[in-house]
Amino acid sequence: MADLFGSAAPYYARYRPMYGEAAVEHLARALGADTRVLDLGCGPGTIAIPLASQVKTVLAVDPAEEMLVEGRRLAADIINIIWIQGDSTTLHALPPFDHVVMGRSFHWMDRRVVLAELDELLPSGGAVALIGPARLSAGPWQPCAQPWQSVERRVCADFDLEIDAAANCFHATDEHHHDVLAASPFSDLESRTFTRPLAWDVEGLVGLQLSYSYSSPAVLGDRLNAFVEALSKALLADNPTGQWEQQLMTEMLIARRRRR
Ligand SMILES: C[S@@+](CC[C@H](N)C(=O)[O-])C[C@H]1O[C@@H](n2cnc3c(N)ncnc32)[C@H](O)[C@@H]1O
Repeated sequence: MADLFGSAAPYYARYRPMYGEAAVEHLARALGADTRVLDLGCGPGTIAIPLASQVKTVLAVDPAEEMLVEGRRLAADIINIIWIQGDSTTLHALPPFDHVVMGRSFHWMDRRVVLAELDELLPSGGAVALIGPARLSAGPWQPCAQPWQSVERRVCADFDLEIDAAANCFHATDEHHHDVLAASPFSDLESRTFTRPLAWDVEGLVGLQLSYSYSSPAVLGDRLNAFVEALSKALLADNPTGQWEQQLMTEMLIARRRRR
């Protein structure tokens, strides 16, 4: 698993957008200030870093050492984040925590097993918070269409790159996180969507593409330079202004146990 994201880590840290202040504040309010929060699949600290100033401690856990290196670098001055190499199969070995947050990482896990373990580990008021692309319809999960998407898809297809090709990715099952949570001990769900505008240029979109596990530098290998050139050219051919706008829609799903 570490290999999937390892080579993407520097691009992830630089080019993946943060979730925005409003989303992090909503999360912090829901979890409470005097709490220890596990950020599972923390990447380079996309959530851990902005959340750290609003809670007591963040345990930032990820299997990819390269992600932790980026996180430690970005959070050099922050003393209440504990960076730990681990994953969803090593939850019992972690120091105690009050809540769990997972940003775009739950789909990489055996979701039912993880929720059953969290039911053993979380205190009675403990929440499971998921952050990721908004669910736009009741049907199977679909990535949000972006203005550059058809170009990206075409170039990825030319390089035989398959989105979410990893066998353990939940997108293959079409079963949404909402439904998995609703059938779990954490069935009391609250969902909020946050939208914010982003501006991209060619460098940003190419960097973003290299931050994805299915088109990371490790996957591309010695085709990396050719891919960067092909994607840059195709993007500019499609949109000679070299500027794109996106409305980034993020959903935060906060799940708790039902009160008896
Ligand atoms: C798309 S990144 C998300 C990073 C960050 N949480 C965010 O919101 O941007 C997914 C992360 O999940 C991690 N990951 C993959 N499988 C995992 C597992 N079984 N347990 C914990 N983390 C995992 C990857 O190493 C990667 O850093």
